[in-house]
Amino acid sequence: MTTDPLVLFTPSGKRGHFPAGTPVLTAARQLGVDLDSVCGGRGICSKCQITPSYGEFPKHGVTVAEAALSEWNKVEQRYDDIRGLTKGRRLGCQALVQGDIVIDVPPESQVHRQVVRKRAEVRDITMNPSTRLYYVDVEHPDMHKPNGDLERLIEALETQWDLQDVKADLHILQSMQPVLRKGDWKVTVAVHLGDEIHPPTIMHIWPGFYDGSIYGLAIDLGSTTIAAHLCDLQTGDVVASSGIMNPQIRFGEDLMSRVSYSMMNKGGDQEMTQAVREGMNTLFAQVADEAEIDKALIVDAVFVCNPVMHHLFLGIDPFELGQAPFALTSSGALSLYAKELDLEIHPTARVYILPCIAGHVGADAAAVALSEAPDKSKDLMLVVDVGTNAEILLGNTDKVLACSSPTGPAFEGAQISSGQRAAPGAIERIEVDPETKEPRFRVIGSDIWSNEDGFADAIATTGVTGICGSGIIEAIAEMRLAGLLDASGLIGSAEQTGTSRCIADGRTNSYVIWDGREEGGLNITVTNPDIRAIQMAKAALYSGARLLMDKFGVDTVDKVILAGAFGAHISAKHAMVLGMIPDCPLDKVTSAGNAAGTGARIALLNTKARTEIEDTVRRIEKIETAVESRFQEHFVNASAIPNSAEPFPILNSIVTLPDVNFNTGGGEQSGGRKRRRRRE
Ligand code: FES
Repeated sequence: MTTDPLVLFTPSGKRGHFPAGTPVLTAARQLGVDLDSVCGGRGICSKCQITPSYGEFPKHGVTVAEAALSEWNKVEQRYDDIRGLTKGRRLGCQALVQGDIVIDVPPESQVHRQVVRKRAEVRDITMNPSTRLYYVDVEHPDMHKPNGDLERLIEALETQWDLQDVKADLHILQSMQPVLRKGDWKVTVAVHLGDEIHPPTIMHIWPGFYDGSIYGLAIDLGSTTIAAHLCDLQTGDVVASSGIMNPQIRFGEDLMSRVSYSMMNKGGDQEMTQAVREGMNTLFAQVADEAEIDKALIVDAVFVCNPVMHHLFLGIDPFELGQAPFALTSSGALSLYAKELDLEIHPTARVYILPCIAGHVGADAAAVALSEAPDKSKDLMLVVDVGTNAEILLGNTDKVLACSSPTGPAFEGAQISSGQRAAPGAIERIEVDPETKEPRFRVIGSDIWSNEDGFADAIATTGVTGICGSGIIEAIAEMRLAGLLDASGLIGSAEQTGTSRCIADGRTNSYVIWDGREEGGLNITVTNPDIRAIQMAKAALYSGARLLMDKFGVDTVDKVILAGAFGAHISAKHAMVLGMIPDCPLDKVTSAGNAAGTGARIALLNTKARTEIEDTVRRIEKIETAVESRFQEHFVNASAIPNSAEPFPILNSIVTLPDVNFNTGGGEQSGGRKRRRRRE
């Protein structure tokens, strides 16, 4: 039996015996313990920090003496003097094993550290980026060995870091000789570790030890906005986030109008490609500025987008996406160079674009699948990314189905008479008293309700400017709960509802939420056409979800996840009263925020997740709503509030939906019927 000291690592639990004098970093490497190092044990990078523990460890059967590690050395002292080392920490490459020892590897010293996500119910992100930094000692040139500087650098990467078959692009050859000499043959190298197509490649060289970091971008390229998160590729931290409006908006608000623009205008697609790429470069400059880093340190970028954005960004005419069978040029993931897309980041930065699920369900939906992982859920999970198109996923570990449903811009406040984007002054929360029929509301930028003291002061600068998407959903649902609105979507008259807030508005009625005209403000109402617009949008959303449920052979789901910026603000109860989402316990309806953006961040920080989502997307079953006859049937039923054919028992157990009917023959609906009868 060996008498060599026992080295036990936590939290991995890996253990082994090593001769006295072995550096802790060496023991960790031999045991496969996840302990970071950029300088390869030279005492320069401080990435190898560990925390030794002393005393009795009956659980492990170990007693650790004070002298279990070599004494604190000069290298550690120097580092401590310059940068400060947390009390109790040692450098793993400097501390030598002398006796039995228990060593904890703190999260920040783990190569594959977990980047903790805010939501408890989702998995953390495991760090495994495409590009890493390596410090190497390169052999000096020798007249008797006529190999080049590059070959000796590659040899150093192989012998010191076990990196095989590393290549270099021309720009490295052009710049490396002075860098090697400046660093006295010691350099830090950023190596892209390669993928299925590309071999490992040297991306950048710094003389000596480079103490900074390298960065990557996770970009959610939406039709309305482009959002970018700049991430540190060593720590996984988001160091800056920013967004801009998609400059393509000037060619058309929605996707189909952009497709038509390219059909009607020769070269229109190229104009839009150029616009989005220019916008992207502006955004990148913005985030780099915010983080105070050089754009050239951005070596990787991951994009998620819908199919039309995907094609226009890549410089592909989206013509085929505008008509059945909605053929994508390529549905697979793409690994490209940033310069091919005119992106002004590191000259050899890489770009990864997630796979598209289908011609109408894009890489953004794939990113949502990566973030929310319905394929790993035992519970049947419905994930809805609410936007101008709703991307819907339904699945569990058995299978995942996906579709997209054209909800239109109503949820974003467009087509709504008092609608506006979420901004200070917009009504975001609203309640209607079922007895008095009086509303009270809160606007973005203030926590004070409109019937509370201090409201006038709170809105003094912003005013009450309109209703945002989540506000309109609450307003309509509250009106339904208060008996101001019937199941068909008709607003009652003052007589029918008993409130003077219901006013005649042409042939229908409107409900006044806020009349600020006396103070020079706005008259904010919910009109019957507003209700119609939301009915159409929510019916499209619900029918898509219901169609997937049909295909899955279920009538209920275990949980609902609302994704997207808008989804983050929707109240579960109100969404259900409206009949936007299937009947489900309220505590099982959660919001995921920008899940597409999170999916992009996961793929940026963990290249294994890229392979994982490519595999998942291949297995996702795509459903085309346009050719499904049941979609129309569900749509008609879902136009009612909450639904004319589905019972919603869970909802009915928590709220009472008044049984009112305002269709007395004088309203819009009866007019429609009369018109239809005349045509018949
Ligand atoms: S490995 Fe770099 S300081 Fe220890």
